[in-house]
Amino acid sequence: MILQLRTLAELSEFITSQKQKKRTIGFVPTMGFLHKGHMSLINLAKESCDIVIASIYVNPSQFNDSSDFDNYPKDEQKDLELLSNNFCDAVFIPTQLEIESIPNVRVDLGTLGDVMEGRSRPGHFEGVVEIVHRLFKAVSPHKAFFGNKDYQQLLVVKKMADSCSLSIEIIGASIVREPSGLAMSSRNVRLSKDIRNKAGFIYETLSKTNLFNIKESRAFLTDNEFELEYLEIHSFGDDKRLFVAGLLDGVRLIDNVKVN
Ligand code: PAJ
Repeated sequence: MILQLRTLAELSEFITSQKQKKRTIGFVPTMGFLHKGHMSLINLAKESCDIVIASIYVNPSQFNDSSDFDNYPKDEQKDLELLSNNFCDAVFIPTQLEIESIPNVRVDLGTLGDVMEGRSRPGHFEGVVEIVHRLFKAVSPHKAFFGNKDYQQLLVVKKMADSCSLSIEIIGASIVREPSGLAMSSRNVRLSKDIRNKAGFIYETLSKTNLFNIKESRAFLTDNEFELEYLEIHSFGDDKRLFVAGLLDGVRLIDNVKVN
């Protein structure tokens, strides 16, 4: 079974001993209820780091909707098995009290904090910055891995690491999808079976959308009972992507694809 670290003292002892042995540490923060998307990050971390450590912590401060937090799925036993089966070396599972003992930061996200998820979920990225910064301080990894599914979050974390001059390399990883095309997410279990099977239409629509038919795509998504929050193209550096968010069957889903 995987090594479980439940206190900052246990974590620090483990990290110190690994660093003394000159091992590089890769870190994968999660909120648990793990799936193949999370495992792709563990496997990517394995490729370039000697030791891989995951964390499981459902961070209350990043939920702008308290019922979403209350209903967030949990299965620690299954998570531990999945991490073990994927040869993750250790998992940090802190309590709220311990994590909140680590000093907090605030980072000016500029316009990045005002669009898409920043606009739709007030306070969300402040909560993400707070927890990821605390976890980075506790784990002090060489590299940290984040999924492109939460692409704006990846950019926010990069900005935070940069503003706080943390010497942690932030690496983005491809989106893992269900056979239907639906981006894997811990929240997908809340969809009814029928709706989950047909939810591939979101990715299908993204794949067919360009600058010229974006209005039609918005209408198509809405006609399919997707309560659309946004379908927008944004460029970050030379990376141009089409982003979507909305509610399907009362479950909030996000996704994005690269556009050329
Ligand atoms: P969580 O939603 O558990 O996701 C943990 C990591 O897995 C994130 O980097 C996310 O982008 C990645 N991920 C989720 N689904 C994926 C998929 N289908 N393909 C590829 N990667 C995927 O994101 C969070 O937790 C939290 O905000 C966190 C960063 C842990 C801070 O609390």
